[in-house]
Amino acid sequence: MIDLAQCVSRDGSQVYRRVFRDQAVYELEREYIFGRNWLYLCHESQLANPGDYVRAYMCDTPIIVSRGDDGNIHAMVNSCSHRGLPVCRSDSGNAKRFVCPYHNWSYRSDGSLAAIPQDRKLGSESCKSALGLKKVPRVASYEGLIFGCFDERVESLDDYLGDMKFYLDSLFRRFDAGIEVVGQPLKWSLSANWKLPVENQLGDVAHGPFLHNSLLGGTDSVKEIDDYGLNCVPRPGHGAAVRLMPEDSDDSARAWGLEGIAALSGNAEYREYLLERQAMAEECIGKVGARIKGLTYGVYPNLSLLWSNSTLRVSHPRGPGEIDYWSWWLLPKDAPEGIRKLLRSNFTLMFGPGGLLEQEDGEAWSQQYNGVNISYMDDSPLHYGLGQGSEGPHPELPGQIGSCYSEHYARAFYQRWRQDIENGLRRAGA
Ligand code: FES
Ligand code: FE
Repeated sequence: MIDLAQCVSRDGSQVYRRVFRDQAVYELEREYIFGRNWLYLCHESQLANPGDYVRAYMCDTPIIVSRGDDGNIHAMVNSCSHRGLPVCRSDSGNAKRFVCPYHNWSYRSDGSLAAIPQDRKLGSESCKSALGLKKVPRVASYEGLIFGCFDERVESLDDYLGDMKFYLDSLFRRFDAGIEVVGQPLKWSLSANWKLPVENQLGDVAHGPFLHNSLLGGTDSVKEIDDYGLNCVPRPGHGAAVRLMPEDSDDSARAWGLEGIAALSGNAEYREYLLERQAMAEECIGKVGARIKGLTYGVYPNLSLLWSNSTLRVSHPRGPGEIDYWSWWLLPKDAPEGIRKLLRSNFTLMFGPGGLLEQEDGEAWSQQYNGVNISYMDDSPLHYGLGQGSEGPHPELPGQIGSCYSEHYARAFYQRWRQDIENGLRRAGA
């Protein structure tokens, strides 16, 4: 039996190393974190037409997400009711039926079973209505982001996101034509625990000028973060690291994406487009929303969003020490072709398996995973106490707000993590 006090301290400021490596802890996470919370599946722009589908994962469960003939979005487990094979093998596409390769049972895009070829030969009629693909019972979306939950009793996605919606809106509603996800996600494996990239992108602004010194050290970006950076916890587990630009700042200081490689290119069309969009931002997201310039976001438990590098990512666990990392490219729907090209370079050059910053982060997470495997250190928890007690309400922003160097985002995450497992065990009567 796991002693949760030996995993995470009540205040979240101490996290024991076993949390990142024990198989038994991972089993609890599968059950009570991934089994009970809303998990990101895909973006609505990937499922524009009836029959469109993508493959996804909920923790390590393979999922098909599709738009049915009825126009609704369905999520079901990618495993045949006959002998368990995956019935969908390509990452995305459009299909009238998912046909299992073993004995050719075929399923409609809503997961219901359409035909069993053997029935014809046998002259029998199996009860097809009971043999559809197993459905994910709850599916919902917010601003195009589609989530699923294995627990029928989960609160609505709206309540689950809570004030995180304010921060999501500041990106997703900034562009009146909307945001779209383009192409397939980049996918790669990491030898690390799934929580390490999540925690990093929930609010670890502090590593930027050090780990990424070659790119960021001594730059104006770091100065801007020092001056205006905040870590926001709209609800424990979720997080938004942002810059709240001053009231007297102009559009060029506030515009989304006017930084990084795309800006360094000096492309005038790109600059003009982003300034045009920023000029409309107040109308779309209000005065405060328009002053927000995000850094990184996290939606509990394992969705991250890097604002300026146009990427959404999910840390899929494959046991305690392996991650299947997926990263999508997103951009404003109405971005002209030249700008799409620039934003794509920005995405792939910085974040992705060969990305400059991703290489440094991935190396840090792998080394961190080595560090949590030193059993002699099992009585020495990792310290998450920086800035403890300095967070609080903010006159303009929802949630608990602190300096961007405060670790309250991580304390809140691990407190939520412990609470979820405690609640789960209590409900299970363990
Ligand atoms: Fe799918 Fe037999 S395993 S049809
Ligand atoms: Fe980083």
